[in-house]
Amino acid sequence: MGALPQLFMRNTHLDNLKPLVIPKGFTLHTHVQGNEDVWEKIIESAFGTKFSFQKTIVEGGGYKPEYVLYVSKDGVDIATATAVEKADFPGEGWFRMIGTSKEARGLGAGKLVCLAALYSLAQRGYKSTVLSTDDSRIPAISMYLSLGFEPLYTHESHKERWDNVMKEINKNKIKI
Ligand SMILES: CC(C)(COP(=O)(O)OP(=O)(O)OC[C@H]1O[C@@H](n2cnc3c(N)ncnc32)[C@H](O)[C@@H]1OP(=O)(O)O)[C@@H](O)C(=O)NCCC(=O)NCCS
Repeated sequence: MGALPQLFMRNTHLDNLKPLVIPKGFTLHTHVQGNEDVWEKIIESAFGTKFSFQKTIVEGGGYKPEYVLYVSKDGVDIATATAVEKADFPGEGWFRMIGTSKEARGLGAGKLVCLAALYSLAQRGYKSTVLSTDDSRIPAISMYLSLGFEPLYTHESHKERWDNVMKEINKNKIKI
């Protein structure tokens, strides 16, 4: 059997977003040209793999520096999210390369940068956005659910895989 496609999620609530509250010590900003190494550092820490900003973001489609967002804490960039449009989902936003540096996890930066990306798409006139993710990315999927994303079933394997993901998420909730 070939590799299964990724899981997809869609958020249709861009007209009804939670208020964007920026905690003390945190700031939000868009990409500063020349600072590609900042994005690469966060993403390498988040994913444990090196990605090139040029290849992934600039050549990835729909790029503008203002579509790449960052959260910084005490002046250090710790989380990033990119919101563009992808040909597969015309007329919708497309969330890409969401990550928080390993040492800065659990501080709310990931959710904040994603919420800012949702606001960015809403300001650009989008009513919905889509993303793809992997079955094992439980923290990310929990975060997406808390931001109003819902599973999007585009493949016959998705139903069972989503059932497993939801079981995993609920198991973690009970532990807490
Ligand atoms: C997903 C990721 C960006 C979350 O970043 P973060 O800054 O640690 O997340 P936040 O502190 O903003 O938490 C936001 C929400 O995410 C969920 N979450 C975060 N970490 C979690 C964990 N370890 N287990 C379960 N849920 C988790 C929770 O719903 C949390 O909300 P809560 O604090 O109200 O419970 C981060 O874990 C990461 O970079 N992961 C590796 C890269 C990755 O998987 N990217 C997504 C690819 S699709």
